[in-house]
Amino acid sequence: MKKQTLLYTLFILAFNCANKKKEAPITRTYVEESHSYAKPNEAVIKHLDLDIVVDFETEVITGTASYAIENYEASEIVLDSKFLDIIRTEVDGRPNKFELGSFDEQLGQALRIPISKDTKQVTVHYKTTDKTEALQWLSPQQTADKKHPFLFTQGQAILTRSWIPIQDSPQIRITYDAKVVVPKELMAVMSAENPKQKTVDGVYNFEMKQPISPYLIALAIGDLEYKAVSNRTGVYAEKSMVDKAQAEFIDMEKMVVAAENLYGDYDWDQFDVIVLPPSFPFGGMENPRLTFATPTVIAGDKSLTSLIAHELAHSWSGNLVTNATWNDFWLNEGFTVYFEIRIMEALYGKDRANMIALIGRQDLEEEVEGFKDEPEMTKLKLDLSNKNPDDGMNSIAYDKGYLFLRTLEEKVGRDTFDAFLKNYFKTNAFSTVTTESFIDYLNSNLLEPNGITFNTEEWIYQPGIPDNQSIIVSNKFENAEKTLQYYLDTKAVDVSKTQDWTTQEWVHFIRNFPETVTTDDLLRLDNAFDFTNATNSHIAMVWYEQAINHDYHGNDVDQKIEDFLIRVGRRWYVSTLFKAFKKADKAEKALAIYEQSRPNYHSVTVNTIDVLLGYDKE
Ligand code: BES
Ligand code: ZN
Repeated sequence: MKKQTLLYTLFILAFNCANKKKEAPITRTYVEESHSYAKPNEAVIKHLDLDIVVDFETEVITGTASYAIENYEASEIVLDSKFLDIIRTEVDGRPNKFELGSFDEQLGQALRIPISKDTKQVTVHYKTTDKTEALQWLSPQQTADKKHPFLFTQGQAILTRSWIPIQDSPQIRITYDAKVVVPKELMAVMSAENPKQKTVDGVYNFEMKQPISPYLIALAIGDLEYKAVSNRTGVYAEKSMVDKAQAEFIDMEKMVVAAENLYGDYDWDQFDVIVLPPSFPFGGMENPRLTFATPTVIAGDKSLTSLIAHELAHSWSGNLVTNATWNDFWLNEGFTVYFEIRIMEALYGKDRANMIALIGRQDLEEEVEGFKDEPEMTKLKLDLSNKNPDDGMNSIAYDKGYLFLRTLEEKVGRDTFDAFLKNYFKTNAFSTVTTESFIDYLNSNLLEPNGITFNTEEWIYQPGIPDNQSIIVSNKFENAEKTLQYYLDTKAVDVSKTQDWTTQEWVHFIRNFPETVTTDDLLRLDNAFDFTNATNSHIAMVWYEQAINHDYHGNDVDQKIEDFLIRVGRRWYVSTLFKAFKKADKAEKALAIYEQSRPNYHSVTVNTIDVLLGYDKE
């Protein structure tokens, strides 16, 4: 027997074979955390029955959230709620009083419902409000087909509470059922078992059988179509996008097979992707069974699909084994980047994998530099109490997390590391892990049995990047650097040198322009390669960044940048460009564009850019 020291949890994985329901492990001790009012050690939700009506006229969701609870003799159950209109509550079907606590900018309000020892169920009747942070209501104009409105939710990190009253901590695990009523012309899909066609009456019933954390409850509503890629993978998108999406993601089944070969069975039955309108604030969001994705990933040549590998990888690291608190976020993202790059290597080879890894390495360098006055923010384990969890959602968790795991892999050998990771996912499936319980698990299952010493604590608890870091090399990137130098030295562009370049090489080429690059150099390169009109969103974004950095205005690039910022709400792209404006002392220009683009952005992008540009909401 392997020694198991997950200190704080006592869990039993129960598989109910009769109805194939996987029950949440019984977790009796939840750790303290600062981003939820819930007191799950006293009374905890186990199953949600959601019954809602979605009204696009008033932009309001109305309905009930009913919970099956486990009660450890508590006299109240505490839920999180933010910007919700709580109408009334019931306990075991009987009307009951409730109390809303004081409002906190980050956390919202505690919703306290008195219960008795044998309470089994609590029900909340509620409405969303126009302040909701999770929901983005889109006009037809903001969609691909421009005919119907659209709605999507974003739960991570602590936004689910703004569309469902809930115990909104990643430590909570619930199964759910939902009945969602939408206008007849639209289709609703969730992070659950999904329809493949519209219903006649606009009524949709969902079931999520596997227990998930509340930040993974998700809903999207629009004029959607479905196209299968394989018998367990497929795409949802608006009509004009669905064939493109299917072609772009044609390797999805291969990705799932590669992932299963690495770290064990895919536990969620179906893996679909929905391509959302361009204001979606992330590249992707790993909602179980239904990844939400930005349309900017559709490049026409599958060159940006590592994003799909990333969200798929979260089916293990994140959705199956979940960070217990947002201070442990690196456990979700660092493992996922590692897994993503392993999937990409399995499908497309080491060259592609190393290029992706090196782009991340460069992002990490910039992030560490950006935090030079706040080195504690470059630790893997963070202390985000009194902060928005979003503050920790940067390249440190992703790329330092990745580098730690890659370095560890090199130290112990790939086979040993893979066996360890496979066991880690299996042992902790449908459960949550803190950084500390991970370190215990690592020591007793990998390092001690193999007599290996490793500076784990330095990687996790110290700022910066330890000296024993794995060194990532890419011949292709070295070649791209040489080619760039040659173009700059000779002031001539020989396009035959770059004919078979991948997107990653182009991104590297553009990001490595020296400080001394001139606007003449940029114009010459632009005229040769038409960067300003790049249809690949990543290439366009890094080119625009350089145009801003180097005061380049050729080929009407300013207009292109403005159009891009108005159309696309993907936070990483948008904030990179607004940061560049700020750094180049063009804050006024940035604010003028932001005035126009802000109404198109989801609240998570708005919050980031408001702070970045010091935007005055009044
Ligand atoms: N789970 C994240 C997105 C996220 C992080 C949402 C934090 C809310 C808070 C998702 O898996 C992710 O990492 N997306 C990346 C894509 C990627 C390939 C690194 C993104 O959106 O850019
Ligand atoms: Zn991720």
